[in-house]
This record gives sequence, C-alpha cells and structure tokens, in this order.
Amino acid sequence: MYYIHAFAITVLLLVTIQYVLTAYIFPKKAKKTLENQLKNHPNYKRLKKIEALFNQLYKRSYANFSSYSDRKNFNIKSNEFIYGEIDFLSFFSILKKTNPQPGEVFYDLGSGSGKAVFAAALCFELSESLGIELLPALFKKSNRQLERVKTLILHHDRDFSDTYLARIASIHFFNENILHHDYSNADILYIAATCFSEETWNKLIAQFACLKSGTRIIVTSKSIHNQQFVSIHSHAELMSWGLCTVNIYKKI
Ligand SMILES: C[S@@+](CC[C@H](N)C(=O)[O-])C[C@H]1O[C@@H](n2cnc3c(N)ncnc32)[C@H](O)[C@@H]1O
Repeated sequence: MYYIHAFAITVLLLVTIQYVLTAYIFPKKAKKTLENQLKNHPNYKRLKKIEALFNQLYKRSYANFSSYSDRKNFNIKSNEFIYGEIDFLSFFSILKKTNPQPGEVFYDLGSGSGKAVFAAALCFELSESLGIELLPALFKKSNRQLERVKTLILHHDRDFSDTYLARIASIHFFNENILHHDYSNADILYIAATCFSEETWNKLIAQFACLKSGTRIIVTSKSIHNQQFVSIHSHAELMSWGLCTVNIYKKI
C-alpha cells in the first residue's frame, strides 16, 4: 500500500513539474530572450510603441469566450476550433524571417479576433493584411477591433497616426471557411494548424498548388512534405498556449 501511494505521489509531482515548466518557466524564459534580442533591432523604440498600441487594443478582448460561446451555440465539437493566439513580439520575429516586402499580401487562415492580421499590418508595409474566420462572434470581434484601433491611433501624434492609419487600411476580414478561399494573390500565409486534423491539413496543402512561386507559408505544429515547398525555418516559438514548433516554407 505504501509503495502505491509513494508511486502515485511521484507521478503527480512529475506531471506538475512538467506542466509548470512548459506552461510558465520555458515560455517566460523564451519571452525574456526574445526581448533581449529585439533590443538590438534598429526600430526597437517604434516596435515597443506599436506593441503598446496592440496591447491596448486587445486589453479585455476575451476572444476565448467568444470562441467558446459560438462553438456551444453551433454545437461544434471539432478540436479544429480550439482557440489560441499569437504573441505580438514573437509573431513579429517570425514574420521577419519571411522578409515581408512593401506591397505584399498577408493572410491569416483562421484569424480569430484578428491579432496576427493587426500585427502584420502594423509592423510591415503590406498592401493587404487579410483574415479568414468561420466563427461569426470572432469575425465580428475582429471587425470591431478594426474600428477601435482607428480611435486608438488617433490619440497619437500626427506622424504616427498618418503612418498607422494608412497601414491598417490594408486590413480586411472574411467570414468564411478557410477551405473555400482562393489564395492565389498571397505572398505570406499564416496558419495556426496545431489542432487541424490531417484531413484538413492535406486539403489545405492541395489548395496551396495555386500559390505563386516565392509565397511563404508559416505554420504551427504541422509540416509540408511536398517537392514544391522548401523549408526556410523551423524553431520553437512563443504562442499564447506556450512554446510551439513553427515551420516556414517557401514555394519554389
Ligand atoms: C488557434 S486559433 C488562431 C487565431 C489567430 N490566427 C491567432 O493566431 O491569433 C484558430 C482559429 O481558426 C478558426 N478556424 C478553424 N477552422 C476553421 C475553418 N475551417 N475556417 C475558418 N476558420 C477556422 C478557429 O475558429 C480559430 O479562431
């Protein structure tokens, strides 16, 4: 009896330690390392100003709750709709690895409350920053955020507000299924595919046949094994749910 208790307590302890490490300690360490790296960025001050605007925009946003209530109302049981979000600075550094060029088109497939779309539009001179989201509550929330961000930007000085009002004009959200959209104008795609089934992921890869040569695809947790795509980066990056493998591919 004693051995059974001791064994159960040891297992519980190990599980708790692993949880604390993966959910708190490692992500916190990764965030600190990233902050230190970005301090050397030539536009660090401007980046922090954009981050402050972004944090203000998403303060008390409760997108998790909107996702949960829509899934409940529409009786959606699929894990594919489990909610999670980008971390602003981490996503900036991920996007930088795709070397976004002025005038390029960015898509977030499953855009939730729009965080990745806003981060991309605010940090880079894109011609379009587009989000596709099926759940109506999240789609509505992202459009409300688009109205709110204008007011927040107007609180800043003229130089800042002129630049960033022009940048957010590139943002558009679509209330659609990601499997039914045409991505032939895309330059950079982001897909938080961690919870996607293999079936959905394979359907998306089949859709990527229409992509232009040079298009970059950023994907969490999943891989692309197709001769048309070369891997340009693979690393554990910070997301709202902790550290997650992010793969970046380029279409040849
Ligand atoms: C993990 S969340 C990512 C949210 C956002 N991209 C971010 O990183 O901040 C995935 C999102 O994809 C949406 N989603 C899942 N399957 C979808 C589909 N077939 N069509 C459109 N949206 C979908 C979910 O509702 C959810 O909002």
